Amino acid sequence: MSKPIQPDFYADGKYRIFDNSRSGSSFSNKGCFNITSAHTLGWLKSLEDFKVLSEISVGDMFCGAGIGAVGAKQLGLKVAFAFDNNKHAINTYNANIQNIAALSDAKEIDIEALPYADIITGGFPCQPFSVSGKGLGELDPDKGNLGKIACNIINKKNPKAFLLENVKGLTHKKNMPFFKELIGLLGVDYHVTWEVVDCSEYGVPQKRERVFIVGIRKDLNKSFLFPNKTHLKDKRTILDSIGDIKLKDELGYISNHQKDCGIRNDEAPYVNKVPVGGNWKNLDIDEQKAFMKKGFYSGGGRTGALHKVDPNKPAKTILSSPLGKATAQILHWEGQEPRRYTVRESLRLQTVPDWFSFNDEIPMMKQYERCSGIPTLVSYILLKEIKAIIKRHDKALKEQDDE
Ligand SMILES: C[S@@+](CC[C@H](N)C(=O)[O-])C[C@H]1O[C@@H](n2cnc3c(N)ncnc32)[C@H](O)[C@@H]1O
Repeated sequence: MSKPIQPDFYADGKYRIFDNSRSGSSFSNKGCFNITSAHTLGWLKSLEDFKVLSEISVGDMFCGAGIGAVGAKQLGLKVAFAFDNNKHAINTYNANIQNIAALSDAKEIDIEALPYADIITGGFPCQPFSVSGKGLGELDPDKGNLGKIACNIINKKNPKAFLLENVKGLTHKKNMPFFKELIGLLGVDYHVTWEVVDCSEYGVPQKRERVFIVGIRKDLNKSFLFPNKTHLKDKRTILDSIGDIKLKDELGYISNHQKDCGIRNDEAPYVNKVPVGGNWKNLDIDEQKAFMKKGFYSGGGRTGALHKVDPNKPAKTILSSPLGKATAQILHWEGQEPRRYTVRESLRLQTVPDWFSFNDEIPMMKQYERCSGIPTLVSYILLKEIKAIIKRHDKALKEQDDE
């Protein structure tokens, strides 16, 4: 029986395929393997996949389950390395993106041993800079220095470009000195551009504001410009994104969609009194007090508790923990019980295609946790632009060499 083709990158960055099914091993250092027989052998699932093998590579720091990496995969980028310190993230990444992700703590990573990648991406942990966290910033003893580790990896591996992502809080006044320090570290060898992007403006059916930092190595003589926003006005909605999978009990064939985490116990007595689009403020005053407890007296325009989503609007930010009291997104389709989104719906709202799935053995709340990441569509849009810059540069270099 023929063994599958085993593709790999080599230190010189060229791609080679060994075809063990032939007598001896056929070998090409230009990836010029016969596509049809590669197909027949079944390892390469499509011509698009074949393109992957001779194209630009990406290194994925803090790779998570691969929500952002799906965008890289759609662009035909080959993952040269990926790491995360969470086993569910790694297993999901390896099953869906490429079987390459390592379970490693960034603080202990051997940077020298990481292979070269043309682009390095990284959504370094955001908790220290998130408004909903303790707000310790770089002083957070566990995660505060991971941004600097990310910069160190980039500077040591010297990719042609990088893409970093974090919560918008990283750019708030309090964290600005640290943010500027990171940009300074990266700015030695790179033209750095950053922007706080509301992902809904790129067509993600979710309000998700994140800072994206893009660097292009200075010898490429190019600065990155954020592509024009495609959905400044006509935002994609919850209905656009998940309306076709409303009747989840009849949809046995869609994975990660049969069960959901329901609602919180303290929401149950009140949830049916809130209209679609409403929240705890729609309750009677006594009920507001009973439900919000001390929070009732803390003032402000907080409308996140007991929030019943309006399917005709974009979702609010998909968070790693869906059952937060102050960040509720309760879906109440007509004729159904109110509930949180399923994991599949969370993935859809993150623009992850349905072929991506979590193994059912991963506890459901861990699956929800792993839905957080760079929305696939935004990753795709930004990496597409980065890829184009690199390709133009490589082509110009080749033309110079050929002259
Ligand atoms: C924001 S998530 C990254 C999501 C990913 N970029 C995506 O688009 O799917 C941050 C990741 O950092 C990982 N992480 C946290 N601390 C880490 C550490 N010390 N070493 C490696 N990974 C870590 C978490 O497990 C989490 O998956």
